[in-house]
Amino acid sequence: MTPPQHKNFHTSNPETSAAIDRSLPEFAAAEVSDEDTFFKNHSPPNYLPEIESEVEEFIKFHLNRDKENAKIVLVTSGGTTVPLENNTVRFIDNFSAGTRGATSAEYFLESGYSVIFLHREFSLLPYSRHFSHSTNCFLDYMIEKDNKIEINPKFSNEMLKVYKKYHKAESENNLLLIPFTTVNQYLYTLKSICEKLQILQKNALFYLAAAVSDFFIPQYRLPQHKIQSSNINHDGELVIRLNQVPKFLSRLVDNWTNTRAYIVSFKLETDEGILIKKSKSALERYHHQLVIGNLLQTRKTEVVFVTKDNEDWVKLNDEEIANNVEIESLMIPQVIKLHDKWIKDI
Ligand code: PMT
Repeated sequence: MTPPQHKNFHTSNPETSAAIDRSLPEFAAAEVSDEDTFFKNHSPPNYLPEIESEVEEFIKFHLNRDKENAKIVLVTSGGTTVPLENNTVRFIDNFSAGTRGATSAEYFLESGYSVIFLHREFSLLPYSRHFSHSTNCFLDYMIEKDNKIEINPKFSNEMLKVYKKYHKAESENNLLLIPFTTVNQYLYTLKSICEKLQILQKNALFYLAAAVSDFFIPQYRLPQHKIQSSNINHDGELVIRLNQVPKFLSRLVDNWTNTRAYIVSFKLETDEGILIKKSKSALERYHHQLVIGNLLQTRKTEVVFVTKDNEDWVKLNDEEIANNVEIESLMIPQVIKLHDKWIKDI
């Protein structure tokens, strides 16, 4: 949707020329022992049981409605944070706004999937993203008339279209929103949801678009209070040691999900020359079904689908770009086609 008035610039866009080129080899996939160590050394978020019962209810509802054909997709979206202090004042973050995840969730819903949307709290959400991903104030969508507030007629047609879709998803209980902020919260919640979805077998789809932190400070080394400016070494530097977050995708594929589930991971790179190679190596390493490769610089206009047998580019043409077509409107039908084939063949 066209944002109202004012021309704006985004301060959150990364400078791509300064972005990290990940031409270094990948870290090894997580072993069972890494998983044990991580979950033994980190406590679960205290709200996890509530989330688990919401997820259980949601799954039960959809299985009761149509046991054979209920299809549920877990969409992960947005970036995880890495706190630098236990009483967190500072944390490490990443660029992901959750556009890919929130947009994809809408197209899944339109295609009859129910969606569990595991997202970074305050990142973009399906439907509301049309009005929130703007540096304009939401009040710009309103006008005052006879001392009452109304939708500005300039936006009401587009807003109505989005509202109808949102209302359908809400009233049919097709969308469950589950938030996370830190990488620890993300991993615990992801594991739980994956395990709950095992019951759906091949009708479960995992669409892992979240940007997960690669490095973190383990709980046992996390300072309790705000790091003081006096905490510097002889050279006047603050030195922070980060440990590697285990690559949990292997555990997700091998242990957390049903072996018949369809799993899609993403590969984000900044160097076009290594995107396909990295996507293929992720597929070989984790033995799942599909890697969607994207470049930071062009992720909104082209992606590559890498499967065991194929590399298929999905690209918007100039006309589509000019008409603000969303690449997810081309991607999701492709993913669903692959999932349908998987369901038929397995
Ligand atoms: O939100 P947007 O601004 O629209 O951006 C969307 C996106 C570019 C973030 C998205 O399209 C995307 O590429 N997401 C994945 C980015 C990423 O974290 O890639 P990775 O190379 O670090 O991880 C690859 C895969 O390994 C991911 O699917 C992740 O689920 C998995 N992983 C990562 C870290 C970790 N510790 N364990 C994992 O299993």
